[in-house]
Amino acid sequence: MCGIVGYIGSKDAAELLLNGLQRLEYRGYDSAGIAVLNGGLSVLKQKGSVSELEKALKNSGQSEQSIHEATAGIGHTRWATHGDPSDRNAHPHLSADGGIALIHNGIIENYSAIKKELISKGYHFSSDTDSEALVHLIDSIWSDKPEIGLEAAVRAALYHVEGAYGLCIISQQEPDKIVVARKGSPLVIGIGEGEYFIASDAAPIVEHTKKVIYLSDGEMAVVTRDGYVIKTIENITQEKHISELDFDLAKIEKGGFEHFMLKEIYEQPTVLQDVMRGRVRLDEGQVRLGGIEDYLDRLKLSSRVIICACGTSWHAGLIGEYLIEEFARIPVEVDYASEFRYRNPVITKDDVVIVISQSGETADTLAALRLAREKGALVMGICNVVGSTIARETLCGIYTHAGPEIGVASTKAFTAQVTVLYLLALTLSKGRTMSREEIKLYLKELNGVPEKVERILKQDDMILEIAEDYKDARNFLYLGRGYNFPVALEGALKLKEISYIHAEGYPAAEMKHGPIALIDEDMPVIFIATRDNSYAKVLSNIEEVRSRKGKVIAIANEGDEEIGRLADHVIYIPAASAPVTPLLSVIPLQLLAYHIATFRGCNVDRPRNLAKSVTVE
Ligand code: AGP
Ligand code: GLU
Repeated sequence: MCGIVGYIGSKDAAELLLNGLQRLEYRGYDSAGIAVLNGGLSVLKQKGSVSELEKALKNSGQSEQSIHEATAGIGHTRWATHGDPSDRNAHPHLSADGGIALIHNGIIENYSAIKKELISKGYHFSSDTDSEALVHLIDSIWSDKPEIGLEAAVRAALYHVEGAYGLCIISQQEPDKIVVARKGSPLVIGIGEGEYFIASDAAPIVEHTKKVIYLSDGEMAVVTRDGYVIKTIENITQEKHISELDFDLAKIEKGGFEHFMLKEIYEQPTVLQDVMRGRVRLDEGQVRLGGIEDYLDRLKLSSRVIICACGTSWHAGLIGEYLIEEFARIPVEVDYASEFRYRNPVITKDDVVIVISQSGETADTLAALRLAREKGALVMGICNVVGSTIARETLCGIYTHAGPEIGVASTKAFTAQVTVLYLLALTLSKGRTMSREEIKLYLKELNGVPEKVERILKQDDMILEIAEDYKDARNFLYLGRGYNFPVALEGALKLKEISYIHAEGYPAAEMKHGPIALIDEDMPVIFIATRDNSYAKVLSNIEEVRSRKGKVIAIANEGDEEIGRLADHVIYIPAASAPVTPLLSVIPLQLLAYHIATFRGCNVDRPRNLAKSVTVE
């Protein structure tokens, strides 16, 4: 969570930092703050959004305006873990004399022991955060040995720290450097001409430079106007590879849409084509997934696939289970990464563990990956963010190529993940369970999806009308079977996340084992009732809801008149085979959640209490 930025060069640091923070705000938005070096150290921080901080700076007096003279500084947008979202808990945190400023992403797990010790030495704390302990610890070490300098003081402090951190530290005593460190929370250094950028991810950097270095866990860097030196925390110099960013500014702007989420929903036809581009040879019935090619034989010989992920990525994983079992006949288990890592799972060398993560930084998923690797399984990643920690730590993997996803509620990353899993399942089936002709047919089906998604998006106005009718509902039930069961879970999650309406996803057939008790005239029930082998059963479930006066919204295939008779509202989607259906049936559910949330006046792109990537446990 939380966004970190740093700048050192010759330009107005405050402006660059604020601009960078805007691009990172999806990572956290409880408070925002900057600290810059302009002779002394000036700090501006407060509860609320980056734009409110920007306004505060504009309306500030002469002294604050001198902030704009600074050409180095750090900035933070917070997702609170310790201490409420408030002015006093906003980062940067300062040493007692105001000489050192620190921003932190992560959790210092042993902060209370450190704090106790520091208090006994006379240190005073002015926030409730765990992070503040670290700035006083650095100060205390440096004050004891002034000759060691900032870098060594930070290094020494980090020896005492347990937990996760991405850190940037500046000091007025050594005003021409930023010291950064990473363990568990991502950090990227952007290399410009006589200027350097630091950030939690590449979004704030890409408009300035495409050359970046991804810091690894356990590394520190000292960044000056003349360059950077990267070492491990144990003080061993590291040679780092410079990567080239392959996206541009347009990809992280709203492009005329009111919200990032809506833009990202509408991007899906293009995204799905991007996922397939260069990988699918339709005429030949061939799929080429470069990132796993070297491991394909071992993947095909695996005795079991275990998929680990969180949230929406976990829902994609469930669809992956259906796909891999149906196409490739390899047994699949799907686990919440957070459960997997703590339940002492049985993993053997013949297992393949697939971790799925949009951000590639989710702490639980990363821990599951490391555990699986330790136990000797082949660990494969499906990630969206290129160069992310999960992408780097997996042995092989497939990028989803959905482009930056800024809306906190995942949409295009989900359909991209499902598409990748579809391609993977076909790849695993080749030469084993499916003929080339069969693969060709499945690829043709997939190839038709982007155009079908376009058609669904054209019904947006009608979905908006349905949303208006149900905007005041207090509960929702989402029901689906087979491939549409994970879609029901995903639809319910989307609604919960952004509209704060309680919603539950259930396998339609399970309804009669409990949730049916909830049905009355105030309970809207969304049925995903496409024509597959469970269609007739789902129709009976609709009847059961109707006879208890529940309101029925159905997602059905075009031309299905029967459903029109039974449901209060029907959203029609083009007919498709069951394995590609999730890519279509989820679209109306994304739009419905979006419109209900906007009718309720919710902040769709930045829902309360959430953050885009969850880098804490
Ligand atoms: C999705 O809408 C959620 N915001 C959330 O459940 C998310 O999918 C989850 O935190 C996993 O994130 P990841 O894909 O980046 O690992
Ligand atoms: N643990 C710190 C806090 O609560 C940092 C949280 C973050 O990563 O934003 O302030």
